[in-house]
Amino acid sequence: MHGIGDVRFFDRFARIYDWVMPAADRDSLAAALSRADGEIDRLLDLGGGTGRASIAVDAGERTVVDVSRPMLARARTRTASGPGRPADPPGPLSAMQGDAGRLSVGDNAVDAAIIVDAFHHMPQQAAVVAEANRVIRPGGVLVVREFDPSHPLGWLLVRAEHAIGMQSTFYTPDDLADLLADAGFSVKVLDSGFEYTVVGTTR
Ligand SMILES: C[S@@+](CC[C@H](N)C(=O)[O-])C[C@H]1O[C@@H](n2cnc3c(N)ncnc32)[C@H](O)[C@@H]1O
Repeated sequence: MHGIGDVRFFDRFARIYDWVMPAADRDSLAAALSRADGEIDRLLDLGGGTGRASIAVDAGERTVVDVSRPMLARARTRTASGPGRPADPPGPLSAMQGDAGRLSVGDNAVDAAIIVDAFHHMPQQAAVVAEANRVIRPGGVLVVREFDPSHPLGWLLVRAEHAIGMQSTFYTPDDLADLLADAGFSVKVLDSGFEYTVVGTTR
């Protein structure tokens, strides 16, 4: 699985990732997840890395799914406390190695999935969205937080990632909304700017 897209970068970056990244945007994620019909008891954090976004959401059982073993190893430390370690999450947090485009999860098995700052690194993007639609139960939500390549900072980010050899593919909010709609989601763009949020509700 190490050959997948940009994962080799995260294998190397895992050790310092949580020290250099700002916290995930709790309010945007909460607003998006609140569009689900009912409680979020089971949540998948796809391309969830070290669990940075998982610990920012108010949900029951959370599972980080990622290809990178070093990133997942870091996510597993979320359950341990101690100096230099992130605080314990409020509910169960587990980590599972896997490709978001081929999930080992049953149909309608979860209430929600989030993909935060990760979708542009995933090579099989249509498959990722289709898999999310399969595993989220009707009335649940897929929340995608991404960077807008048409924003000046997004333009710089695209060039910076490509300059270091990443194969990232970015979508504008409207184009990402179309991709989710084509997969069968009912879609809303919740906020815009350099980083934006699109939420898809399963029918
Ligand atoms: C920038 S990190 C974001 C991590 C986390 N979502 C966060 O907000 O901190 C991108 C993550 O996507 C993961 N990734 C890339 N392609 C993937 C795929 N096809 N399936 C699962 N994870 C993937 C990488 O290994 C990396 O951990």
